[in-house]
This record gives sequence, C-alpha cells and structure tokens, in this order.
Amino acid sequence: MSSQKPIGIFDSGYGGLTVFRSIADQLPGYDYIYFGDNSRAPYGNRSFKNIHHYTWECVQWLFKQDCPLVILACNTASAKALRTIQQQDLPNGYADKRVLGVIRPTAEVIGNYSSNKEIGILGTKGTVQSESYLLEIAKFFPEVKAYQQACPLWVPLIENGEHDKPGADYFVKQYLDGILGKSNSIDTLLLACTHYPLIQEKIKNYLPENIQVIAQGDIVAKSLTDYLKRHPEIEQQLTKNNDRRFFTTTDDTDDFDKQASMFFNEEVKSGYVAV
Ligand code: DGL
Repeated sequence: MSSQKPIGIFDSGYGGLTVFRSIADQLPGYDYIYFGDNSRAPYGNRSFKNIHHYTWECVQWLFKQDCPLVILACNTASAKALRTIQQQDLPNGYADKRVLGVIRPTAEVIGNYSSNKEIGILGTKGTVQSESYLLEIAKFFPEVKAYQQACPLWVPLIENGEHDKPGADYFVKQYLDGILGKSNSIDTLLLACTHYPLIQEKIKNYLPENIQVIAQGDIVAKSLTDYLKRHPEIEQQLTKNNDRRFFTTTDDTDDFDKQASMFFNEEVKSGYVAV
C-alpha cells in the first residue's frame, strides 16, 4: 500500500471525468484516484440493489487504496446508493471515511441560475425515478418549479462513442422536446448526469437561445473546496504530490484511455481492476 492518501473519484464509467476535470482545476496539488466501473455501466437503468452493490464495492476498493474521502461523481449512484452508504455502510467499520455525492451540492445552488424560477432536470432513469433532485431543490428553493426528463439512451450513446455521429441527434432532440413540452417558462436546463457535458454542444443546437445549459462539474468542485475548508480533520489527511491515477473495470484499458482522454481533456493512462 502506498503512503499516499488521495481523494477518490468514482463513476459508473467515463462521466465522472467531467467532474474530476473541474475538481483538478479548482483543487490542484492533491493526489487523486479516478475509478470508473465501465464494465458494468450504464448504471442508469439498473435496480437500487445493484447500483448500491456495485457502488459500495467500488468505494471499498478506493478505501483500500487509502482514500480518506470518496466523491461519487455520478448522479445515479448519488441518488440510489449514497444514503445507504452514509447511514449503513460507513458506520459498519469505516467510520473514519467520508463519501460525498453530487446531487446536494448542485441542488444547493441551481435555483440561483434561473430568472423564471423554472428548471428542467435531465438525468438517467434512476436519477429521475428517485426524485432526489425534486426533493433537494424544494428544500433550498421552495419557489422553484423543477421538471424532470429521463434520457435513457444518452449514456449508452456516449459510452459507445456514438454521440458525435448524426444518428445521435434524433435522441438528443427527442428528450429535449420532452422536457420543453413540460413548460414554456423553463429557462435553465441542468445536466444531471456527469456524462451529458460531452453532448452539451449538440444539446444547445436544439434549444432556443434564452435557455441556458448548466453542467455540474464546477459546482461540485466549488462545494468540495468549501467542504475541505470546513473539515480540516479530513483535509489534513490528504497527501499533495499532484499525482493522478486512473483505474477501470474494463480490461480494454486502451479503449478506456482513448475515451477518457476526451472526457478529461488530457492524456489518461489507466490500470485494470477486476470486479
Ligand atoms: N454518469 C452517471 C450519472 O451521473 C451515470 C450514468 C449511468 O451509468 O447510467 O448519472
């Protein structure tokens, strides 16, 4: 085991790299381990039981790499597994570890982006069905009306590298028509899945100019910065050698490296972890 104590960043696949990019930019110098469960992605259409089982297995692997803190850079895992991990799993032998998600920090600020106070949430089926965003946004912005649209085909298109092709446009437009059909007053669309920033430009092509599209990477990174200031007992454990390591559960690490470099916007070399 190394003497490093990195921040662990987890996603079902590549999507968390869009969040990691923002975290690495806002919090440089720290050591990081990224872990993508690509062999079992997408999580979005899976049951609560499976999402929790897979997420907890990967979080425990990150704990074995000595991460005192793990970020679930995945809305689906944050919606379906985070609460059980925090309330049941951590107290059971991992009380000194911390696991944070991406939904609460996003819900805490998203209401500030909308002038009309009407927001559209685009997410996986799992995230939408959990209603986590509706519940969290209502706590921080009771005046905001939030509408949801599941986009179950977007992650498979992105994970398979089909999102840049013309065929993807059909599905991009289909789900945007769905959310815009719910209200004429939506002025803000939240990409509530960490994969979706990869199709942000395509999404914008199908929207009127008065609708803004918000990706959550910078929001999550800012929230983590504040968390580390509020929690010196965690921050002081973290090592700072500017080291970044990447791991995936797919045995085709060359393919992971190619795709991941696109998401992370920097060259990635990964290691394989069997699950
Ligand atoms: N990137 C994920 C999210 O933020 C996951 C998607 C999936 O595996 O379906 O929800």
